[in-house]
Amino acid sequence: MENTTEPEFEKISEQASEASSKASLDNNEEQKVTAFEVEAGETGVDYDRLIDQFGCDRIEARHLEKIEQLTGQKPHRFLRRNIFFSHRSLDWCLKSFETGRGFYLYTGRGPSSSSLHVGHAVPFIFTKYMQEAFDLPLVIQLTDDEKFFHKQVLTFENVYKMGYENIKDIIAFGFDPEKTFIFSDIDYIKYLYPNVCKMQKALTLNNVKGVFGFNDSDNAGKYSFPAIQAAPSFSNTFPHIFGKKKNVPCLIPQAIDQDPYFRMTRDIAKKLKYEKPGCIQSKFFPAITGLSGKMSASLAHTTIYLSDDPSQIKNKINKHAKSGGGDTLKEHREKGANLEVDIPYQYLTFFLEDDDELARIAEEYSSGRMLTGEIKEICAKVITDFITEYQERRSKVTDEDVKAFTAIRPIDPKSSKMPPKPDKTMEEAKK
Ligand code: TYM
Repeated sequence: MENTTEPEFEKISEQASEASSKASLDNNEEQKVTAFEVEAGETGVDYDRLIDQFGCDRIEARHLEKIEQLTGQKPHRFLRRNIFFSHRSLDWCLKSFETGRGFYLYTGRGPSSSSLHVGHAVPFIFTKYMQEAFDLPLVIQLTDDEKFFHKQVLTFENVYKMGYENIKDIIAFGFDPEKTFIFSDIDYIKYLYPNVCKMQKALTLNNVKGVFGFNDSDNAGKYSFPAIQAAPSFSNTFPHIFGKKKNVPCLIPQAIDQDPYFRMTRDIAKKLKYEKPGCIQSKFFPAITGLSGKMSASLAHTTIYLSDDPSQIKNKINKHAKSGGGDTLKEHREKGANLEVDIPYQYLTFFLEDDDELARIAEEYSSGRMLTGEIKEICAKVITDFITEYQERRSKVTDEDVKAFTAIRPIDPKSSKMPPKPDKTMEEAKK
């Protein structure tokens, strides 16, 4: 059910500051998750605790059943394996679809490197699945401005250029060209601006500080930016898709690090009499070196890029992947591997499609029959197959494709898979 008892903004800010202070307390226990960094202990982020701190809701079996019923297909492996584990207002979006009102998808990327890494692939793979399964319109934001404000070394020209390359990376995930609009903030700002201004007027400096933890030395761009990430959550930011409709529900696939932006957005939405956007949130694809950090573009040796070749992938996994196997062969054979901290096994949970094969590997490896070298080999093959296929599609993306996806053009917001809206006159006649 839709959570109708959400706290007011002031309380949310308090809750968020409390979350930041808890996070610093958690630092002693080694857990810190913000929009900008992720640090955890050896066993990784405690996602249950995070849901409680952020005030999100858990994805439950009933959500998977509803998604299966509405789409007529088995839910994506990311849902089956609880990798997408948390949400806000998912029930509301599904209900809106079921009753013929529909919803649209919104996701994004902050261009801080010229190639995406495997972690970034997680929300994009999931968004493509959602678009296809529900036949939904999708908007994708490139926050070139955000990365300019946040990364001291990046110039304005740099971020825009990297954004252009990232648009090609994103197109290569296979989004529907008829239903997808991709935009850079720098290019599309004129259309974002009315909602950006409304948000900025409704937000105080204290609100932004409370949610993001900025201090008085942070540049003013950082303070003004969150309203720009919020604006695509409202359908009237896209008149070429939704006309003047301001309340088409929006669902935002993301990893949970983006939650602070949308926690803030949802609260201001109420003030502006807009529909609160929904979120569907994933766990982090971990760094090669272990669960204590997410895979991140700024740490090259802990990262597998979508531009890596098979030998780079193999080397990174063989040399750096944190193992949950025993220290000696004897110990491993006796005690088996700890799957919870084993990076090759964790990677397989994201990328190996076959549930039975994953269960077989889990059984063999945790019992000590399978060795670390063997699971690393399986992992390198699965990731290499995914990246090779991806690179084939990426090599075919042209400047013409970028033009087509970024053109401000009419897009049909309706889904062919949505049940028809109940006919009002029929409904009234029944009464
Ligand atoms: P960015 O570029 O940092 O990340 C892009 C998307 O990838 C997710 N992500 C990950 N997911 C799983 N494992 C990881 N290791 C990992 N690292 C990053 C992020 O959560 C994000 O979904 N401010 C945003 C850009 C943005 C956006 C949005 C993202 C604008 N509007 C709406 C999501 C939804 C950013 O810098 O993302």
